[in-house]
Amino acid sequence: MSQNYLNIDRFIYGGDYNPEQWLDRPDIFKQDLLLMKKAHINTVTLGVFSWSTLEPIKDCFNFTWLIDIIDKLYDNGIQVILATPSGARPRWLAETYPEVLRVREDRTRQLYGERHNHCYTSPAYRERVRIINQKLAKTFRNHPGVILWHISNEYRGECHCPLCQEAFRNWLKNKYKDIDSLNRAWWTTFWSHTYNSFHQIESPSSIGDHGLHGLNLDWKRFVTDQTVDFMCEEIHALRDGGATQPVTTNFMDDYKGLNYYNLAKHIDYVSWDSYPTWNKEDEICTAYDTAMQHDLMRSMKQKPFLLMESCPSSPNWQTVSKLKKPGLLQSASLQAVAHGSNSVQYFQIRQSRGSFEKFHGAVIDHYGGSDTRVFNEVTETGASLIELKQVIGSKVDSSAAIIYDMENRWAMEDSKGPRNEGLFYHESVLKSYQALRKAALNVDIINMEQSLDSYKLVVAPMLYMFRAGIEIKLRSFVENGGILIMTYWSGIVNETDLCYLGGTPHSLLDVFGLRSKEIDGLYEWEENSLIPIPENSLQLHTSYKCKNLCDLVQLNGATPLMNYGSDFYQGTPALTVNQYGKGYAYYICADAEEPFYHDLYAKILAKHHIHSILNTIPDGIEVTSRTDDEYEYIFIQNFSSRTLDIVLPKTMDIIYGNKDGNIRQYETIVSRKKLF
Ligand code: GAL
Repeated sequence: MSQNYLNIDRFIYGGDYNPEQWLDRPDIFKQDLLLMKKAHINTVTLGVFSWSTLEPIKDCFNFTWLIDIIDKLYDNGIQVILATPSGARPRWLAETYPEVLRVREDRTRQLYGERHNHCYTSPAYRERVRIINQKLAKTFRNHPGVILWHISNEYRGECHCPLCQEAFRNWLKNKYKDIDSLNRAWWTTFWSHTYNSFHQIESPSSIGDHGLHGLNLDWKRFVTDQTVDFMCEEIHALRDGGATQPVTTNFMDDYKGLNYYNLAKHIDYVSWDSYPTWNKEDEICTAYDTAMQHDLMRSMKQKPFLLMESCPSSPNWQTVSKLKKPGLLQSASLQAVAHGSNSVQYFQIRQSRGSFEKFHGAVIDHYGGSDTRVFNEVTETGASLIELKQVIGSKVDSSAAIIYDMENRWAMEDSKGPRNEGLFYHESVLKSYQALRKAALNVDIINMEQSLDSYKLVVAPMLYMFRAGIEIKLRSFVENGGILIMTYWSGIVNETDLCYLGGTPHSLLDVFGLRSKEIDGLYEWEENSLIPIPENSLQLHTSYKCKNLCDLVQLNGATPLMNYGSDFYQGTPALTVNQYGKGYAYYICADAEEPFYHDLYAKILAKHHIHSILNTIPDGIEVTSRTDDEYEYIFIQNFSSRTLDIVLPKTMDIIYGNKDGNIRQYETIVSRKKLF
């Protein structure tokens, strides 16, 4: 990681551009340049998949076209995010070094093809990447137009080749030191799977071991570490070549193959590619889902992130290529900014003529003119970002955090029971998230390694695995006055997936004033309910349905607020609270329907005086804020299909959007409030 930060005095606006596909058509680049300027585009990402044009034959490099394009872009006020080309390799490379081809978990080696399919361990691949990265760095290290390095593209996947097996064994040796410790950590006496030496270890496979949860978990950790190691080598090659610009790599939406937090530690900016299925269901649900991803990306480094890719109209790989309805592009783009992005970038600037993405939405389509609906909306969005310039430099401050941890997810979803038809971890996190957003609170989405100190409210949905000392952090958080909300299926296993002995949620029985005795998995068609106890301290009056999982708890100090409505555990606690130290610990026993969370969180926020950004928010409106030293900027966005009234306090002045007291579908209003 470099100490360089982007010196941004305007929002980065543009997207992926692939001029290498048009080198025989200089007229196209000329036309694109004019159109980009017209659309207020100030940045393009180049070189993501350019390897075979940059090095068409081994050791024969041709950078002339790239230098020419970057120079011309710069002369026209357009800066460049330059990618390292490792996301897709040329044919000659796989032909010369077959070891770069990935081996699947069933031990079949893949043929050359597609992208993102190379072995991250292969010394040959690393060497070829090092050579080309270093050359790129030497060529562009001093180019004023190159502002950021885009390392590879959407790292993903895994390889099970002999080189990776050896690296995995070494990784394990380093972690466990001796084989007995590994055997204990993985509980290998089960089914007589004890290892005599590290040499016997093989990565998980459908034709071998796949039910040894400790092995599966460590394999996933290894895959992340190997990817991190590969990425760091890419970055070192740039630094060795003299490049000093900051670096980023682009992440994907809810990708389960890597623990992104570990990659984030080594890059200057987190960036991500956002492709929601807009116009499919209730728009506010898609908006919340997307918002949660934005917040996750921002929370990894607790600083502004970059929206690296999004689609100006419809992506062609979704089941249906739904066009974005008029106005939605701007709304979705400004939503990213509201959640802390310093950029709006598209995939792609110009639509390709052939191959897989020829029908993927683009700023400039095959028609090639500026008189298209999409181009006009892109231009309007660019103008909005110029208008919102003063927001640059601000960041998002959150009073609430939700713990959403990838290692927890790996372990929980790999386990057998208590519900192999689906545990709904992501959905459970989303329900709490939506409720907090609906109450107009900024929310960080953090993992177990992060500090809880700055929050008033922390939510820990389905924290099955406790790691990184989370139980100690949660205890002191509550002790010092924090409000903690935890759910069923929490504190069950340690970090190698061994069950805790002596009662769960592990080590927090006194904090919650209860012990989980049993958990009931419900069939798809089954439901239970949560019934408020008369005169409960939160004044909850409504009953709610619950599904999937019902935790049966034994109280030891906690006060029940709701009870189960049916089954043999009817009348036993379903929601509890316990005062511990200066704070309160709430325990939600079952997977309740969404309105329950809205009701519960609204009551908890009111009771514990946790203030929202705005007080009364109609359904379908999303409210977010960014703050700098002087102002809080409040983004109000209408994702409903109706025009809604909106009354803002007199302390706020509107700096963007209409001032009529109402907000139309997809409209954004930004108001400003002076701090102190
Ligand atoms: C991204 C990828 C891009 C492009 C895009 C299409 O995941 O990084 O290269 O393929 O999807 O939506």
